[in-house]
Amino acid sequence: MNPLQGKRIVLGVTGGVAAYKAAELVRLLVKAGATVDVVLTEAGSRFVGAATFQALSGHPVATSLWDERFAGGMAHIDLTHGERGADAVLVAPATADFIAKLVHGFADDLLSTLCLARDCPLLVAPAMNRQMWEHPATARNVAQLEADGVSVLGPASGAQACGEVGEGRMLEPAEILDALMAFFQPKLLAGKRVLLTVGPTFEALDPVRGLTNSSSGKMGFALARACAEVGAGVTAICGPIALPTPSGVTRIDVQSALQMREAVLAALPANIFIAVAAVADFRPAAAMEHKIKKGATTLTLELVANPDILAEVAGGSNAPFCVGFAAESQNLAEYAEGKRRAKHLPLVVGNLVQDGLGGDANVVTLFDDAGAHPLPPGDKLDVARAIVQHISKMIGR
Ligand code: C5P
Repeated sequence: MNPLQGKRIVLGVTGGVAAYKAAELVRLLVKAGATVDVVLTEAGSRFVGAATFQALSGHPVATSLWDERFAGGMAHIDLTHGERGADAVLVAPATADFIAKLVHGFADDLLSTLCLARDCPLLVAPAMNRQMWEHPATARNVAQLEADGVSVLGPASGAQACGEVGEGRMLEPAEILDALMAFFQPKLLAGKRVLLTVGPTFEALDPVRGLTNSSSGKMGFALARACAEVGAGVTAICGPIALPTPSGVTRIDVQSALQMREAVLAALPANIFIAVAAVADFRPAAAMEHKIKKGATTLTLELVANPDILAEVAGGSNAPFCVGFAAESQNLAEYAEGKRRAKHLPLVVGNLVQDGLGGDANVVTLFDDAGAHPLPPGDKLDVARAIVQHISKMIGR
């Protein structure tokens, strides 16, 4: 399921201080199963030496148009065509100068010539000083690159090596890796809007205490990411979780089930609603205005039932394609299928709490009209991608 497994990437490294992050990027790409050929510009080699990239990629680093190791002395062709054919060329960091060269089709060194001669997609991760990024010339060049079909990853905003703060920092290596994975995914949900609930809810008892559960939000965010990777517009309504938001996902934070319901209803309409959140079934009948003091030997809490968000959305007019989760500690098939029927859902994802809650991996079975479909166990992102493929098939994509 890893979209980078077996892919061949040419990584161009141009002359910016972010070149040091390209070394980490090579490591991540190789770890993800990609074969990486690094092409270093002369300016790039001033920041990080070829030996570093060679050691990390396990391949010789190409630096010159005149490199005789390549067939017919044509490194610019040999690296992206034929047997060594690359699946993508990624330039990270891409300097303002290199972007300008790409826009005008200059071919005065190996990397620029290779970009011009390639027959595979090109992605660039710009890295430059804030003012260089904001300069109208760069803005024009980047717009032209995008119009030419080049994917521009980032840049991010933040502290810069020159001491300034602003837009122009190269994305972090892990973010570039994620973007590249997304790039290779078929856009099964292009044009679709996906709404998810994620994480636990927190039902306040008093100003400092509350009822909650151990849902981490990892499965919800894995699904949000998997939907974004295949081109959906994604909004996640999140209970209290401590996770970074996946790229391309709009996040709305809430605390209680009532707030989650409000936020979901406000975010509709959607084409697909995936209720991953472990919503508290009950909330205190009234939250105390002040901290409950100790001293009494017993404390009785009165709880009232929370609304079932998923059932309400699934039963509404113009209901999206609704997916429920059933986390059970036993009798998975019976309970999951029961839930599917009771809430009139086309699809329920069932898992045993001992397999999934809080951890990084999950084992799930999908329940739909055609029966039960166990998915191979895997990390939550792999499982999420498989669930998204199943949803796509069900909605006829
Ligand atoms: O009924 P049960 O809570 O077991 O069903 C689980 C499914 O229903 C999950 O998809 C969960 O997100 C959703 N749910 C909800 N609102 C609730 C309770 C559960 O959306 N109040």
